[in-house]
Amino acid sequence: MRRSLRRALGSALRWLGVKVCRRSALLLVLVWLASWLFLNGLVFVHRNMFSDFCTDDKSKEILQRVCDEYQQGVLSGDLCDDLCVAGRVEYKRCLYYENGKKVMAASWRGVPVVLKSKLENFSSYEALALLEYQDGAGGTGGEEELSPLDVVFYATLEIKNSLGLETGTNLTLPRLWGQKLKESERTYSRAELASLWALLQQEEYIFLRVLQDLTHHVAKILGSCGHFYAVEFLAAGHAWDQHIFSLEELSLSPSPSPGSAQDQMFTAGDMVPRVALSFLEMVEHFENDFSHRLHLCDIKPENFAIRKDLTVVAIDVDMAFFEPKMRDILEQNCTSDNDCNFFDCISKCDRTKNRCGPKRQNSNLQVICEKIFRPWFSPTLLGAKAGLPLQVALQRAVQECAEIGEGRRAVRQQLRALLVELVQEDSGNQGEGQERKMGRVHTALNF
Ligand SMILES: *[C@@H]1O[C@H](CO)[C@@H](O)[C@H](O)[C@H]1NC(C)=O
Ligand SMILES: *[C@@H]1O[C@H](CO)[C@@H](O)[C@H](O)[C@H]1NC(C)=O
Ligand SMILES: *[C@@H]1O[C@H](CO)[C@@H](O)[C@H](O)[C@H]1NC(C)=O
Repeated sequence: MRRSLRRALGSALRWLGVKVCRRSALLLVLVWLASWLFLNGLVFVHRNMFSDFCTDDKSKEILQRVCDEYQQGVLSGDLCDDLCVAGRVEYKRCLYYENGKKVMAASWRGVPVVLKSKLENFSSYEALALLEYQDGAGGTGGEEELSPLDVVFYATLEIKNSLGLETGTNLTLPRLWGQKLKESERTYSRAELASLWALLQQEEYIFLRVLQDLTHHVAKILGSCGHFYAVEFLAAGHAWDQHIFSLEELSLSPSPSPGSAQDQMFTAGDMVPRVALSFLEMVEHFENDFSHRLHLCDIKPENFAIRKDLTVVAIDVDMAFFEPKMRDILEQNCTSDNDCNFFDCISKCDRTKNRCGPKRQNSNLQVICEKIFRPWFSPTLLGAKAGLPLQVALQRAVQECAEIGEGRRAVRQQLRALLVELVQEDSGNQGEGQERKMGRVHTALNF
């Protein structure tokens, strides 16, 4: 690439009638490269200076305000006491601020967590209208509490709205959640409801919260205080690491549920097929287990992490959509198929109507095969093993999976069978039947 650049530059200069020797052309390219890097650095610094900068002082100040409001009875949550009174939440560092979203690392009772909120201040969230109505009616005073059924109703509407599920369809997603609310007889204080309401205005929280009960392939929400919620801390995968997830980081980040049987260590060779199997399991979950298919439209290593037991976890769900919302997103005006690509989710342009089809043409599995499996099982990475029959079959299966649009069952089954074989070949003797125990489950209202 650099050579063609140099050639282009050279011919441009020649065209100008300047006779340059190769060396000065090279020098020019280097100067050009250096200034490009410099400019990029400048843009980076600029962006950081003008979006608000992530500092420890600022973060501590924000958490202090949360605690002040907790003490005033404005907000509450199962994390508040540990954060504000018992001192069991230890602030570690600021991770990032982005469009007002505050994200920091902390340790809660020794477990590494990420504290998140879409907005910095509790008061910036929309207040629950029901509470204000009560204030207005005011007869019985501020002590009156809402019935759980009202809460379920409002929470459900908010959730469906946020996930893009039409109100007409049956309520299958949040039913689980509502059931628990209905079963517990107690009523809820204003602080609890106001906190729940602030959490429900954060799409990521809703998404993770709803999926918690249904799959272990999303980051666990461990607790909350006011508008801040704590998610298990997991090191994300990275594109530059050939194995995507590094074993060192895995051993550094303790799992949030100690005590479960997962202390066995894995070797790198052992790990890849196991993690790949977990990816397959996740794909199946997302395709079949919910009332609507779940589409992941931004599939890259950075958006996934693994737990110590090698479960693959989706940690960034900003680009995950259920079928109805996916259809809305895809249905756009178009003149060619290229107009119908939404990141990793693509559909086809219907030339007669000049509209993109609402149905996604590729699948989560196809993109995972293309972007994650293919590099993993490429001959260069497999090294000496690359010629073995099992590896060759696997490469072929991955290739086939990456090429077909619709995730066909046969391909998936073949892939799974080959991976299982690979795992058995690698370990052979490890005990099967690891049972996954669910850790303590957070519920916004502790119901
Ligand atoms: C949050 O509240 C503090 C103190 O009330 C205020 O100084 C700050 O500007 C607020 N931040 C935002 C983003 O509203
Ligand atoms: C909704 O649920 C009811 C009973 O629970 C059922 O009769 C009805 O067919 C369902 N509707 C849809 C659209 O699934
Ligand atoms: C899409 O096309 C329709 C008619 O073909 C037009 O009415 C509409 O404004 C277009 N929408 C956008 C966003 O361009």
